[in-house]
Amino acid sequence: MQVELFVNGQRRTDDVEPRLLLVHYLREVCGLRAANVGCDTTSCGACTVLLNGTSVKSCTVLTVQAAGQQVTTAEGLAANGELHPVQAAFRQEHGLQCGFCTPGMVMATVGLLSENPHPTEAEVREGLEGNFCRCTGYHNIVRAVLAAAGGAGADGAGGIAGDDGTADGERAEVGA
Ligand code: FES
Ligand code: FES
Repeated sequence: MQVELFVNGQRRTDDVEPRLLLVHYLREVCGLRAANVGCDTTSCGACTVLLNGTSVKSCTVLTVQAAGQQVTTAEGLAANGELHPVQAAFRQEHGLQCGFCTPGMVMATVGLLSENPHPTEAEVREGLEGNFCRCTGYHNIVRAVLAAAGGAGADGAGGIAGDDGTADGERAEVGA
C-alpha cells in the first residue's frame, strides 16, 4: 500500500507492505541507518526515533501508522553543519562509545528534554531506562543529558550521584 509521510522534513511517498516496521522502512527504504535493530522485544531502544517530536521505538511502530506524520532520525538532528545541542553534549561529555546504542540514546534524550527541559538526575535515569548500553556505565550518558539541559553535567558542578569519574566499564542499568 502507498504511504506518505515526512522523514527528517522531507515528504516521501512509498509503496510498503502493511506489516513493514518503521525501523525497517527507515533503514531499507530510506537508507537511513542511524536507527538500529538491537532486539526483537521492544527492550533496547536502539531503534528510537521521534514521531511528531515524541520518542518512540520504531521497531514497535508500523510504517503505515506513521502516515502523514513527521519522523525524525538522528540523521535529521544536525542543521547548517552544526551538531544538535544534544549531540554536542554527548560528544563533550563522552556520553558515547559505539554507534549502535548512541543514536537511540540521543533521540530518546531529545524527546525527554522536549517534555522536561530541566530534568533531575533521577528523571534522566528514569527517562532513559528504555535505552540500553551494553558496554559501559551510564554515568557519562546521564552527564551528557544534564549538560544538554544546561545542568550539572558539563563541569561536574553538583556531581552525579555515585559517579567516581571513571569510565569503569560497568553494565549497570540506566535506572540503577
Ligand atoms: S530494536 Fe527496538 S527496542 Fe530494541
Ligand atoms: S556505547 Fe553503545 S552499547 Fe554501549
